[in-house]
Amino acid sequence: MTRYKIGIFAGDGIGPEIMDEGVKILKLIEQRNDVSFELIPAAFGANAYFSHGDCFPDETKAICDEVDALIKGPIGLSHEDSKKIPVDLQPERGALLPMRRRLNTYANFRPVSLPKELAHFSPLKPEVIGEGIDLIMVRELVGGLYFGNKEVGVNADGRRYVNEALEYDEDQISRILIEAFKVASGRKQVLHNIHKSNVLKSSVLWNEVLEEIAPDFPDVEVKHMLVDAAATALCLNPGQFDVMVMENMFGDILSDQGGGILGSLGLMPSACIGPEKAYYEPSHGSAPDIAGQNIANPYSMIGSVAMMLEYSFGMHDEAKNVWAAMQGIFADGYSTADLSKPGSDVRMIATNEFGDKVAEKLLAQG
Ligand code: IPM
Ligand code: MG
Repeated sequence: MTRYKIGIFAGDGIGPEIMDEGVKILKLIEQRNDVSFELIPAAFGANAYFSHGDCFPDETKAICDEVDALIKGPIGLSHEDSKKIPVDLQPERGALLPMRRRLNTYANFRPVSLPKELAHFSPLKPEVIGEGIDLIMVRELVGGLYFGNKEVGVNADGRRYVNEALEYDEDQISRILIEAFKVASGRKQVLHNIHKSNVLKSSVLWNEVLEEIAPDFPDVEVKHMLVDAAATALCLNPGQFDVMVMENMFGDILSDQGGGILGSLGLMPSACIGPEKAYYEPSHGSAPDIAGQNIANPYSMIGSVAMMLEYSFGMHDEAKNVWAAMQGIFADGYSTADLSKPGSDVRMIATNEFGDKVAEKLLAQG
């Protein structure tokens, strides 16, 4: 039997309730396979600040180092509540970014997927969606503006100023591009390189490095697109994309737009992969306004579990089974609250009901 240690960082807001559904599915998978999952919960995020005085406590850091993979819920507070935590200690700056750095999870994979049968969830017209949306965004996750040098002060004229740098070196660029080429090679052999080289020097270097790598992947056709144009193209013709690669900040913004064209960020799981460590998380925030109401969509969390099964444990069939189960629930006419307005032609289900239905479908698959 293969044994894995999995960190469970439920996070803030809707994190704990969607994590419960992820864990429900993980346990079911464990039962019917020759694997054992040792689940190790840890405090992470704003909740950890209030319980431990630190959004990323030392014991949680130790768990990060010890586990084979970890799954993390969204973190963060409402705009108002955030003010209860000093700026530099807030969960995004004080926990999430340090964790990404610590684990060196430089490659972030964000699938944007909506089968044709679920097109009614999308704000895009059916003729724009065509045969469905199925692309993957590959986002650099540990460099760029997020991690560059930051300086805040008062200049000689007495004005407050800020200076934050978009920093990359060629190795940071090449390793993410190589990942993206590999993904493209295994899919439709088309890679959209998203950049802003008409303005940013970082994009000029990015594209130079890409030209150097491209000959190693002769099967992959590269298409260049400016990031602003890509934002429009995602709305007008998402079907032209299969794999998109981009630096950290562009990826943050376009991946949220990815959720927008699907109909909800609740449909956005993600995998964060490094040379040694990997962790999995929904791409969305902690939605404090709906926390504790059992109405959040756990798809992004259960999808993150599916990505963990695939990327960390090589359990490809089970990962496919989980995707099929989740999409089957929507295809059966059910919806979660984020995806449909009350009164639309769907049967609304709660967070835990969605998890139960995924479990039922998995069991029915045998
Ligand atoms: C994401 C999130 C994070 C990011 C936040 C919570 C810091 O928006 O994973 O996309 O900006 O990377
Ligand atoms: Mg984001």
